[in-house]
Amino acid sequence: MDRPCIGVFDSGVGGLSVLRALRERLPLAPLAYVADSAHAPYGERSPTQVIERSTRIVGHLLDNHARLIVVACNTATALAIDELRSRWPQVPFVGIEPGIKPAVALSRCGRIGVMATSATVDSERMRKLVLRHGGDAAVHLQACPGLADAIEAGLDGEALDAVARPHCEALLARSVDTVVLGCTHYPLAAARIARLLGPNVMLIDTADAVSQQAARLWPQALNIESPPMRLASTGDTEAMCRLVRRWLGVDAPIERIAV
Ligand code: DGL
Repeated sequence: MDRPCIGVFDSGVGGLSVLRALRERLPLAPLAYVADSAHAPYGERSPTQVIERSTRIVGHLLDNHARLIVVACNTATALAIDELRSRWPQVPFVGIEPGIKPAVALSRCGRIGVMATSATVDSERMRKLVLRHGGDAAVHLQACPGLADAIEAGLDGEALDAVARPHCEALLARSVDTVVLGCTHYPLAAARIARLLGPNVMLIDTADAVSQQAARLWPQALNIESPPMRLASTGDTEAMCRLVRRWLGVDAPIERIAV
């Protein structure tokens, strides 16, 4: 991409749920997406590793004319966005965080659940988020090891349910009525998760709030007719191809990159 664009990245395919919201809200903005699939899942990595990978990917996006960076990964936001901002103070960053605030506002019973990676659940940023927005609600943080991986591998149907079920059962045991999808991979499996949680549980996804914030920061003067969307992955592109077709409704080529 040789024109100014919005750079978007995730540990893998999860950020496609954010990319879709960005395309809807900013249809004239050029987009460049990097899935760091060769290094997923971030949720099982140390903060140092997530910072190192995020820094490399952002460096790559900036080299490719990104003017705004959307960190389409809750884990990278929790562990790395402060480092990224201090390394590139002139670059605007938009991160994604679990939607505790809307969940607390919507919950009727005052018991909410958050599904997220182990790294996000254990992070200092998560602790502060619950303190800031949890209010009187009981907030149950459910780490879901294996779930992002299963989605990354393209599992669906019963195979995906088998991974998601124990996490959903743990949430149901807490009698929550609202569950936050605190990892960008999970909206790609929202229909299965919703079925496992049953009709009395509402799901919250913050992709749209991220796209709103990006729209505020993106200079409209950089919009163009039929903007390009460039997709790249550091790993396997097969499952990503299928998800891009299903989520974005396009048959776009995916470039394999080494970053
Ligand atoms: N999609 C990422 C998130 O939002 C992380 C998944 C992973 O790589 O563990 O947290």
